[in-house]
Amino acid sequence: MRTFLIFLSLFLIPGSCTTTQQQSTTDSDLKTSEAGETGIIQTELMGTAKEVPSLAKVYEKYFNIGTCVELSQLMGTEGELLLKHFSSLTAENIMKPKYMAPSEGTFTFDNADKLVNYALENNKLVRGHTLVWHNQNAKWMFYDQNGNKVSKNVLLKRLETYINTVVSRYKGKVYAWDVVNEVVDATALRKSEWLEIAGEEYIEKAFIYAHRADPGARLFLNEIDTIERIKSENICKLVRKLLDRNVPIHGIGLQFHITLHYPGLQAISEALKKYNDLGLEIHITEFDMSLNADPDFKAGKAPEDLLIRQAHRYKEIFDLFKTYKNITNVTFWGFHDGHTWSTYFPVTKKDWPLLFDRDFKTKYAFWGLVDPSRLPKDVVINNDSKNNFKAYAKKGTPVIDGMEDEIWKKTGDMNITIYVQGSGSHGTGKTLCYYG
Ligand code: GLA
Repeated sequence: MRTFLIFLSLFLIPGSCTTTQQQSTTDSDLKTSEAGETGIIQTELMGTAKEVPSLAKVYEKYFNIGTCVELSQLMGTEGELLLKHFSSLTAENIMKPKYMAPSEGTFTFDNADKLVNYALENNKLVRGHTLVWHNQNAKWMFYDQNGNKVSKNVLLKRLETYINTVVSRYKGKVYAWDVVNEVVDATALRKSEWLEIAGEEYIEKAFIYAHRADPGARLFLNEIDTIERIKSENICKLVRKLLDRNVPIHGIGLQFHITLHYPGLQAISEALKKYNDLGLEIHITEFDMSLNADPDFKAGKAPEDLLIRQAHRYKEIFDLFKTYKNITNVTFWGFHDGHTWSTYFPVTKKDWPLLFDRDFKTKYAFWGLVDPSRLPKDVVINNDSKNNFKAYAKKGTPVIDGMEDEIWKKTGDMNITIYVQGSGSHGTGKTLCYYG
């Protein structure tokens, strides 16, 4: 037993203390091998993605499992993964107004038709994404022939024609539409050309037009950063207003582009409660978990411990989702790390946000969702009744202030108790940490 003074923040503030964990070798059937380009340690037990259980089947009694796709991904190994693991598809780009209506009076349906037909032939649901957004929109809608901004009436008429044409075409085929995307800001409605020209009314009009075109489609307001406390209140306020005005809105879409550390599970749980209280359906529409959100983190391959933590975090969040009957679809924004928007945003970098690696093999994240018993242990921290923390950690090497801890390096698995001194509930107090 050794007494050791550390700051509680080492454990509670992400990034301030990292533990390089080594893969458990206690299961005799776990043989490690380097897997391809990513350098991610894979196991033979994990096998190739084709041989593993279907993600969609594992979750079918809770919700549909979806992913966004590009047309190029419908074939080959990617196509096989899609068919096996997902029950719902969203067009990553091709159903956005920029591509569906490149100029006034011109609709280009070929690509969207291909995707929708593929989905229906293969018994998949289609989420339509998206009818109104401030990005990737049909710019021409806002301007007249002289380049001046059009009037509110003209804009709403164009919107009606657009929505009516697109939604009618896929009537009975697209089961849910993200009618409006990212229309709310932290504290107000998002400033956009829509808001500037048409005022707040464009939002309810979009829902009304969509409902008229396909009364059977489920209509969603899709939002980003939905876990932020003030923003979530703002979103709920808008939705309640729409419901009070009998606007045909059936659900909230929560995008869920998150990182390994943020937002915390508690914040996610509180936000979900709020959305659930609206009584509407909830779709998680764009789930991914960046491992490389920190601009100073320039790893060429993902550290093993981060991949393991990612798996546990995916599992914790899915466990939470499972407690909500109103969550009926959980869609990932992509399915393998070789194809993710996170490579390009906000800066070009390598990232590992999804369930399959660049070689289409299952990552720990996948196993966290289909069979967590196969995961190496994570550091688990539980509060006891006196607000102390009990943790269990696999053998590892903590790096504290840039220095590897020599003694811990020599130990095996261990139990840790952290005694909080003072008001350290948010990681500011000093603590005594016993381990052994
Ligand atoms: C937003 C949009 C998506 C997609 C992602 C990033 O979340 O809703 O359509 O563009 O950004 O790729």
